[in-house]
Amino acid sequence: MSEENLNYTDQIQKRRTFAIISHPDAGKTTLTEKFLLYGGAIRSAGSVKSRRTQKHAVSDWMEIEKQRGISVTSSVLQFNYDGFCINILDTPGHQDFSEDTYRTLVAADSAVMVIDSAKGVEEQTKKLFKVCKMRGIPIFTFINKLDAQGKDPLELIEDIENALGIRAYPMDWPIGCGKAFKGVYNRRKNHIELFEDGDHGQSMVGTLECDINDPNLTNIIGSDLHEKLLEDIELLDMAGDDYNLEQILKGELTPVFFGSAMTNFGVEPFLQTFLEISTPPQPRMSNEGPIDPTTEYFSGFIFKIQANMNPAHRDRIAFLRICSGKFEKGMMTTLVQKNKKVKLAQPQQFLAQDRAMVEEAYPGDIIGIHDPGIFNIGDTLCSADLKLKYEGIPQFAPEHFMKISTVNALKRKQFLKGVSQLAEEGSIQVFKPHFTGSEELIVGVVGVLQFEVLEYRLNNEYGVEIKKQRLPYNYIRWIEMENYSPSNFKLTSDAIVAETEDGDPVLLCQYEWSIRQVSERNEGAILRETHLKE
Ligand code: G4P
Repeated sequence: MSEENLNYTDQIQKRRTFAIISHPDAGKTTLTEKFLLYGGAIRSAGSVKSRRTQKHAVSDWMEIEKQRGISVTSSVLQFNYDGFCINILDTPGHQDFSEDTYRTLVAADSAVMVIDSAKGVEEQTKKLFKVCKMRGIPIFTFINKLDAQGKDPLELIEDIENALGIRAYPMDWPIGCGKAFKGVYNRRKNHIELFEDGDHGQSMVGTLECDINDPNLTNIIGSDLHEKLLEDIELLDMAGDDYNLEQILKGELTPVFFGSAMTNFGVEPFLQTFLEISTPPQPRMSNEGPIDPTTEYFSGFIFKIQANMNPAHRDRIAFLRICSGKFEKGMMTTLVQKNKKVKLAQPQQFLAQDRAMVEEAYPGDIIGIHDPGIFNIGDTLCSADLKLKYEGIPQFAPEHFMKISTVNALKRKQFLKGVSQLAEEGSIQVFKPHFTGSEELIVGVVGVLQFEVLEYRLNNEYGVEIKKQRLPYNYIRWIEMENYSPSNFKLTSDAIVAETEDGDPVLLCQYEWSIRQVSERNEGAILRETHLKE
């Protein structure tokens, strides 16, 4: 193998691309910050948050984002640690998260799930977890805030298994919590890592190590905690799942780590074990079968489009996940879906501190490319003359719906154009009600903030003022049925049918139980929670 080939394979082998998911406030930002700290990408904790604020001021892409002081978009960070090149895909931490958040998970090879030890599994985690599960990617759990009073660890493990439907294998086990937190027992290495609250998480802390059977341990953690630890471990060894790497990599078993991101405790062992267990980019499914990352031609897919990074130009940035081949700045590719040649002239990469121009990138990396309005979510770019298309990115079920129309009938054309462009970017989904011949459209979103974004952008970019009315529906299902006819489709009183822009029928309903009822009333109907666009 030539030197160049060796280098290329090594580049892929050292890559890890994961999404970090959690319910807001579980400590996702703090943990990310600590990863960057260990990777030497930042010098002191606190930088990620200040970077966020700074980014708002610079990008200025939407007034609304500044006003609310939250990040509507998910971001990508790359850093190096111990010979690895790590890409972290962040998912918005606010409750008003969007479909983008789900799509980000499609670009990741694994997920790190952060759980607050005082709260257990929360709503947003459940939603994000569902998408990870659907993709069958490995999920690593970090139970955070062990320095504060939390739930019993056995209860937390049970919560993960019951609420999420995944088996859990505790990699380590906490000794005490809150003020009495002493450290963790590492089950695989059979030693204790003692907690010392260094300098409040500003820099890296060391750990002392000793064996679980060390008689001195009673002196260090006290006889009560030592006894409880021995009891808990015996119980886990007897009644818990066995460590099984194959199941972990298939996303059937989650390795669970305990720690405290704020004080750095457990962060580095977590990162090291994660890097040891997780795999580099694997083959991705396409219409031509699985494509190996080591394949010599360049290929990748677009999973997110972000508009108006610069409001003066109405430009868009498309986020591309590289799946195979080496990327080089200025390279010529084919946009397969449109059979169009595209030169990737000004690619950007998102490093810990900055956004920078990228000269070369490898499978697993995410690059931002300028979009003059030609890309759609799910598009494949490929350097060879192939008809290669990666598996599409599904549309995820919106949970909030609104009826909209333009106030000024003369602006109807701009209204339709704006709505359809925003739908293309994937921040909203548009449906036509079946029941009227009116000019109204139904818009569905995953997070309610998207309604504000829609109204703001229609007004500011297209000069359109809208009339809006919230609809009571909470659930959507894509209907698959032979000989479907809206007039013969039997509904419950809280439900309606509508159709997508492509003419696919959907069911909208207020209550979850209606989904089953409607399915029972219409023989042969399949009601799907996600939808793959043709
Ligand atoms: P998020 O991105 O998941 O939303 O969470 P973030 O890291 O912003 O953390 C949410 C809050 O939890 C922050 O407190 C943070 O300091 C705290 N936190 C994170 N990790 C730990 C931990 O290991 N132990 C404890 N005790 N707290 C932790 P805040 O008061 O909201 O913000 P700040 O003033 O501390 O920045």
